[in-house]
Amino acid sequence: MSNFFACILTLFPEMFPGILGASLPGKALKDSLWRLETLDIRSFADNKHSSVDDTPYGGGAGMVMRPEVIDTAISAAETKFGPFARKIYLSPRGKVLDQVLVKELTKASSLLLLCGRYEGVDQRVIDAQGLTEVSIGDFILAGGEVAAMAMLEACVRLIPGVVGNATTTDEESFERGLLEYPHYTRPAVWSGREVPEVLVSGNHAKVREWRRKQAEEITRERRPDLWKRYEKSQ
Ligand SMILES: C[S@@+](CC[C@H](N)C(=O)[O-])C[C@H]1O[C@@H](n2cnc3c(N)ncnc32)[C@H](O)[C@@H]1O
Repeated sequence: MSNFFACILTLFPEMFPGILGASLPGKALKDSLWRLETLDIRSFADNKHSSVDDTPYGGGAGMVMRPEVIDTAISAAETKFGPFARKIYLSPRGKVLDQVLVKELTKASSLLLLCGRYEGVDQRVIDAQGLTEVSIGDFILAGGEVAAMAMLEACVRLIPGVVGNATTTDEESFERGLLEYPHYTRPAVWSGREVPEVLVSGNHAKVREWRRKQAEEITRERRPDLWKRYEKSQ
């Protein structure tokens, strides 16, 4: 049984579990294969108007999330749930999430995920709390919630028992440093297009070889960065 646990700090707890409550992650959540908690950052704003943000020092557009509110929220999460293996701030400035990091995070077992809004979070609380910044890609979202969901969906499907067939994840894109080969299903001819002959040959060794070659070709064409690393590893 997995102990994977994630606690989300967000201004929008009602967004969760969201997509994480559906399909495989949702079923796994119901079956207690993992656990999700949310804390509302606003409930830790110790001021008359429950304000969580303020104007940036140095001027400029937008608002910044206040350090003492975030600090209190993180401390409250630690008091309630115990220490976290990893404390993460979803941030476009962070290390870009990839399958290697997803595996590492899944093994970490307890994650605190801070979702920013506005221009982001005061740098001092990021430093003081030792938060690791993680990005889900080189683009700007309105907030960290979708990023947290994407990260968790990727982690949860690696928990044993979540994806039915254990071999399904072994051959996926990135598992062997390659993108995945193309897939086909019935009918054998669709709209005048035939399934590659080797796939209906019944020769498993040939099928494996064809798939490996396809995966290599697609990776070389589409992702020179991955291809370079793969070539080096061979
Ligand atoms: C509008 S963004 C702030 C962007 C920030 N001012 C910048 O330029 O780096 C608000 C929040 O969305 C989240 N966010 C936006 N893009 C993200 C990404 N690519 N990956 C992870 N989180 C992201 C972060 O939590 C961030 O604090």
